[in-house]
Amino acid sequence: MSKPFVAILMGSDSDLPVMQSTMDVLKNLEVPFEAKITSAHRTPDATHAYVKDADARGCVVFICAAGLAAHLAGAVAGLTVKPVIGIPLDAGPLQGMDSLFSTVMMPGGIPVATVAVGKPGAKNAAYLAAQIMSLVDPALAGRVKADREANAESVKAKDAQLQAELKG
Ligand code: RP5
Repeated sequence: MSKPFVAILMGSDSDLPVMQSTMDVLKNLEVPFEAKITSAHRTPDATHAYVKDADARGCVVFICAAGLAAHLAGAVAGLTVKPVIGIPLDAGPLQGMDSLFSTVMMPGGIPVATVAVGKPGAKNAAYLAAQIMSLVDPALAGRVKADREANAESVKAKDAQLQAELKG
């Protein structure tokens, strides 16, 4: 059986700087992933072919990021029954409101789990995908939990530093 992996799709190479956060989080959590630039509008046939192929090869979760009239996540969700996480990106004058509505407002029966606009969403998409995969992978669940604890410790350390500075 093929190894489970996450497939990251983004509509353009201009999405790469933000999508680096998704890849960084998955790398840190040791979650196998593929990343592909493909567009629901500009390369619909390639998008269709990739999703069908990735699905058959063992993709467990699809993460789809796009800006403007962001139909990538919705188009992918229509092609698979695997979970699809959508990241709306800020790529134009409407500052992500356009892609937020395009991504989140899916018709009943074809869900897209939509995360926040931009970089926080790009990070959370990776965490959410890892959490989904960790349901059947106790070692990964342990890494996700350790990451969450490290995050809390870093906030506490920053507060301790602030309190020390305030005391002089
Ligand atoms: C979307 O259009 C892409 O996901 C990107 O966010 C936006 C702009 O694409 P480029 O014109 O920069 O290639 O499809």
